[in-house]
Amino acid sequence: MDIQSKGRSPFYPGQPVPVELFTGRKEQIGRIERAASQVAKGKPQSIFLRGEYGIGKSSLAGYARRLLEKECGLFGIQVLLGGAKTLEDLSLRTVESLLKPKEYEPAGIDNIRNALSRYVESVEFFGITINLKNLKEDSPRIARGYLPFLHSLLERLKGEKYKGIFLILDEINGIASNPDFAFFIKTLVDENALNDKPLPLLLMLCGVEERRTEMINAHQPIDRIFDIVEIGRLMNFEMKDFFTKAFTSVNTSVEEDAMRFICTLSSGFPKLMHLIGDAVYWKDTDNKISLTDATQGSIDAAVEFGQKFVDKQVLNALQSEDYRSILKKLSAKLMFDISISFQKASIVEVLTENEKAKFNNFLQRMKKLRVLNSGEIKGEYIFNNRLIPLYIWLKYPAKKSEQLSKIEA
Ligand SMILES: Nc1ncnc2c1ncn2[C@@H]1O[C@H](COP(=O)(O)OP(=O)(O)OP(=O)(O)O)[C@@H](O)[C@H]1O
Ligand SMILES: [Mg+2]
Repeated sequence: MDIQSKGRSPFYPGQPVPVELFTGRKEQIGRIERAASQVAKGKPQSIFLRGEYGIGKSSLAGYARRLLEKECGLFGIQVLLGGAKTLEDLSLRTVESLLKPKEYEPAGIDNIRNALSRYVESVEFFGITINLKNLKEDSPRIARGYLPFLHSLLERLKGEKYKGIFLILDEINGIASNPDFAFFIKTLVDENALNDKPLPLLLMLCGVEERRTEMINAHQPIDRIFDIVEIGRLMNFEMKDFFTKAFTSVNTSVEEDAMRFICTLSSGFPKLMHLIGDAVYWKDTDNKISLTDATQGSIDAAVEFGQKFVDKQVLNALQSEDYRSILKKLSAKLMFDISISFQKASIVEVLTENEKAKFNNFLQRMKKLRVLNSGEIKGEYIFNNRLIPLYIWLKYPAKKSEQLSKIEA
């Protein structure tokens, strides 16, 4: 079988996962549903969906958006704030996300689009062109009256089944450092609570813990408004479930040892499941994933990630051989403990004299590169993104035989 004859890969390394392949997260979904049922009864709730980079926040948010529409009658709006810095940007993105056609369109969306027609330049078969001039002009006003704006959206949905709104603010990296954002969120929540008739609003922010801390630093009371829903790695049976669903959807079976291999390597990270799954999919030629397909595909996946992220963002900035050697030792140790944090002292033990002398500088550089953060305990460091140590570990061929034997054990 050649590449031409292969169908569409069921893996989505760079995108939120489609509902059919969405796996796990039962506990988190339960917590979100509980909050949503309160909202549907008229009691506003706020959630901070917290989890490291690439762990599946946007996917869970997207999945919940559909689920809560059906189950609790909440109209979902998922606003992607990547690159947004100000409240005007936030307003603009909110309107954009209502106007732009999505793969899943909630009932009643046309009523809303009609109400927002001032911001539509043209509608063609390939989508909507937004009238940015009008939208930019109005966005400060929308930002100032954000709560009434949300009220008016629900008003427009009268006659539909809706009881409230599920507003997801996702990708808050850029805006969370703007102190206005924390004040805005707190005011939105308080103003709503004080209202005679509060808007049944489920507000959900998605981000890593540092963004929440950043917001609390800007405005302490933010701390009290959110219930935190934590999202972590998937369990082994969930990964297996995912791979089975994904490969079955393209009529492909996975042999048991191959399955064990790709699950171990993915180590519970959904992003890795997709990267590895995709590479393995392309290696396979007979609709049957063998251990050889699995190992060869995984090595491709590791190299690809390594070149894109680790080489460009980390190794290029750490030219010194000592730095690199420290990094390798660090990642080997972390993988051994399957941990994301480490104590400085435990690494010093395995360093050469030269490396020891450079270790402090190394840690500072890694913090500047946003690879490491200081932990809460003195001498503790935490990797900002789990994929970095994981891929350094996967990447270095010198360690490969040791790795494989560990994986197979
Ligand atoms: N529950 C899941 N089941 C299957 N695949 C998933 C699941 N959650 C996430 N994924 C996949 O994992 C990858 C990362 O997911 P997603 O983009 O949702 O994470 P994120 O936490 O929002 O990441 P970021 O921090 O970059 O915003 C994507 O390839 C997505 O398809
Ligand atoms: Mg995301």
